[in-house]
Amino acid sequence: MPFHTIIEPFRIHSTQRIRHTTPEEREAALVRAGYNLFGLRGEEVLIDLLTDSGTGAMSSRQWAAMMDGDESYAGSSSYERFRDTVQGLTGLAEVIPTHQGRAAEHILFSVMAKRGQVVPNNTHFDTTRANVEFVGAEARDLVIAEGRVPSSEHPFKGNMDLDALEATIGEVGVERIPLVMVTVTNNSGGGQPVSLENLRGVRRICDAHGIPLFLDACRFAENAWFIKLREPGQTDRTPREIVREMFSLVDGCTMSAKKDGMANIGGFLALNDAEVARKARNLLILTEGFPTYGGLAGYDMEAIAVGLEEVLDEDYLRYRIRSTAYLAEKAESAGVPTVRPPGGHAVYLDAKALLTHIPPSQYPAQALAVELYRTGGVRGVEIGSVMFGARHPDGTETPSDMELVRLAIPRRTYTQSHVDYVGEVIKEVAERRDQIRGLTIVEQAPWLRHFTARFAPV
Ligand code: F0G
Repeated sequence: MPFHTIIEPFRIHSTQRIRHTTPEEREAALVRAGYNLFGLRGEEVLIDLLTDSGTGAMSSRQWAAMMDGDESYAGSSSYERFRDTVQGLTGLAEVIPTHQGRAAEHILFSVMAKRGQVVPNNTHFDTTRANVEFVGAEARDLVIAEGRVPSSEHPFKGNMDLDALEATIGEVGVERIPLVMVTVTNNSGGGQPVSLENLRGVRRICDAHGIPLFLDACRFAENAWFIKLREPGQTDRTPREIVREMFSLVDGCTMSAKKDGMANIGGFLALNDAEVARKARNLLILTEGFPTYGGLAGYDMEAIAVGLEEVLDEDYLRYRIRSTAYLAEKAESAGVPTVRPPGGHAVYLDAKALLTHIPPSQYPAQALAVELYRTGGVRGVEIGSVMFGARHPDGTETPSDMELVRLAIPRRTYTQSHVDYVGEVIKEVAERRDQIRGLTIVEQAPWLRHFTARFAPV
């Protein structure tokens, strides 16, 4: 092919206005929000990279399918389409719709785990960890050593450390491990993929001990694309074939359809064990809704059913993974180190490496996130000591291992020129790095403080 620019494989059919704010407006917004970007109004943000969850654009086919939504309380035909799509994709027998991923997690751990047990995962996402801990179990992260080093270049940095998994089972005892989970891609570890070989290895260990294996499948299609690109022997397979093999290795999954479901809301729990499914549906009725809609409208299930097919389109996945890498290249050429290699859904800026003059106690990643907004109206999210620092009764804190700013890319939403602009903002901020000051916390909640804490400049 004579052309090598990888283009957005769609044309834009409907648009939403975004607006530049003035530096004075942004400064006032920061003061009002206490330098916490969760406190900004959507309209005050120009390019919103806070999350890739539920923030993407749906296709004309998804909007059209929504018109066919069957809102029957029981026996909705939209549920049947949704169920058939999930079964076709995953091969899993029981499909339970939920309003989003964390509701599926809550139901799964409520019926399968209990106090004193241990759930191994490559890296638990924060809602997954919280739902494990909520039932009194321990959430243990067993990602490979390379997965904890931002600069290491391993192709599958999301892989589970198989020796550590064996050791954990030996130490804890099989009866105290209700299930093993693998998160694809590994969001909290930089959006890094897990190889088929590694998943097969986890399966072998689970089989040897009779332990069920579940996927946290939020970004299953992005994971499959990385397998196609990077795993020996996988190049000629379609994403659908790879996805099918990934799911054939597990007993069930939780899913947030706000990611690779290409929808603005939704999720599901899918599994093979009919007895566990029966208990899950009983709880579903209590907390979400009747089993043929869970927490969703009929039209949501229609949108997800179409989204789950569209996400496997090779042109889409090629563009998706390439456009994330493109932003990482912009950041690196501006002199800002990132978590290597770039993940599927986000670029993670290494604030510790950039702002060496700001100690962890003054939250360098929060300072960098604030500066990106102040400079260009770009919103990312701190993943560092504000989110994960351990607080002690005497008021001191143990900082998080890494101080990162995640720039997550909504699906099919921003164009290459938007990303070029973000690159320019990063460059401008990097050039003024010496002038950036740290922050101190002036107000905070006892848990999940990153959502509501208020800061002041040091
Ligand atoms: N698991 C992973 C790996 C996730 O990334 C998320 C959400 C969830 C579970 C929970 O799904 O939001 O539908 O309840 N991640 C979003 C993010 C919020 O910004 O990374 P949910």
